Amino acid sequence: MTVTIRAFAEADTEAVLALWRQAFPEYNDASRPHRDPRLSIANKLGTQPELFFVAIRHDGDETGTLVGTAMAGYDGHRGWLYSVAVAPEARRLGLGTRLVRHAENALAAMGCLKLNLQVLTDKPEVLAFYGRLGYCTDAVISLGKRLSAQESEALA
Ligand SMILES: CC(C)(COP(=O)(O)OP(=O)(O)OC[C@H]1O[C@@H](n2cnc3c(N)ncnc32)[C@H](O)[C@@H]1OP(=O)(O)O)[C@@H](O)C(=O)NCCC(=O)NCCS
Repeated sequence: MTVTIRAFAEADTEAVLALWRQAFPEYNDASRPHRDPRLSIANKLGTQPELFFVAIRHDGDETGTLVGTAMAGYDGHRGWLYSVAVAPEARRLGLGTRLVRHAENALAAMGCLKLNLQVLTDKPEVLAFYGRLGYCTDAVISLGKRLSAQESEALA
């Protein structure tokens, strides 16, 4: 199986959404807009789109089949990694590792020294995956706050 990793292109949108619907059941909750996958893609195309990667399996055809994703970002201080997903039929073949390494290399080339990511607490297998890749639990509490459109306007 030949798999190449390249930057996301708009033509990949439906294949990415199909993969994410399988890989991230939590993305199907439309009441949580920060997890609206179509919006995530649209937003990423406006912010460092070159750090949105897809893995394409080539079975002799030129176009290939999308079998993985990884989305990264660098804010000048830290790097972040999101949406690492591999199609169920292509797992445990090292593709998740390749996608993470690809994103790490891209961030390192931008001067990023530390990469953070969050894993849902009910996903021990994902913790095992990142543990294998050298990621450790930081002694911090992760905090978050929703910024609604209304609040953003009031602050403008
Ligand atoms: C997590 C995920 C990306 C791993 O992709 P993958 O291509 O199967 O990963 P790799 O083949 O590179 O695995 C590397 C190592 O990680 C560990 N690992 C991977 N999946 C594992 C699992 N389900 N349980 C335990 N360990 C696992 C193993 O040590 C594995 O090495 P091995 O196969 O030689 O034992 C994939 O399972 C996935 O898409 N899961 C659903 C989406 C998700 O939750 N993503 C994380 C969001 S941050």
